[in-house]
Amino acid sequence: CGESGAGRLLTLTEIVVQLTAHLNSAEQCLAGKKVMITAGPTIEAIDPVRFLSNHSSGKMGYALAQAAYSAGAEVTLVSGPVAMSAPAGVTLVSVHSAEQMFNAVQASVQQMDIFIGCAAVADYRPESVQSQKIKKSPEVMTIQLTPTIDILASLNDLPTKPFAVGFAAETQNIKDYALGKLEAKKCDLIMANHVGIEGTGFGSDDNAVTVLGHDLQIELPKQSKTMLARAMISIIADTYKQRKL
Ligand code: CTP
Repeated sequence: CGESGAGRLLTLTEIVVQLTAHLNSAEQCLAGKKVMITAGPTIEAIDPVRFLSNHSSGKMGYALAQAAYSAGAEVTLVSGPVAMSAPAGVTLVSVHSAEQMFNAVQASVQQMDIFIGCAAVADYRPESVQSQKIKKSPEVMTIQLTPTIDILASLNDLPTKPFAVGFAAETQNIKDYALGKLEAKKCDLIMANHVGIEGTGFGSDDNAVTVLGHDLQIELPKQSKTMLARAMISIIADTYKQRKL
């Protein structure tokens, strides 16, 4: 098709990003580190043609994967279905459901130095998936939902846990809810993210977050997800190194 495949030259932007990453060693704050990032939504099947999901575009997670790779890390991106290609140099593991994402994370997370949970994982899935398309009827329909596994919190059950970074997608009481998740999921850092407002968060090209740690609070004002991801990676690398000292 001329758009993809062997021999296809990278876009100019990708070439510049790759060159900048490799020439500017001062920015290689994650050199030699293994980083796993979850991104995008998960989709939970109802029947062969329908599913439950959310508005996550994956842009923040993909920008983080690019920024971590540019900072010298070996990056594994575990992604739900999104309309983007993985950044060059990043290992992509494509999944659909929360259960598949959990299994993909568990398969290699213990070899990672840093885990960043950026995916908008569905909290519930239909209790049973119908094997045939559900037919329309005039009756009110109820779908029984059952909780999915919390992928980020499940890291606490592992014998060796990587440095863990979570996101908190909130529409109100952002800092309080985010701090609650930092404690409950025993993260090292949490990115408090105001979703549900025009111009930032889900689907948008821009975002603003408050980075919260156990004795840390940094406001990252509204900017492109690309720039924000670089700032986040720099804070993550600094905090990771301090914890290791
Ligand atoms: N997360 C996860 N597995 C889940 C649900 C969430 O790994 N089943 C992770 C997300 O990737 C994120 C963090 O947990 O890093 C918080 O996700 P969020 O959706 O903000 O919060 P929930 O824990 O789902 O709680 P609530 O929906 O009640 O706000």
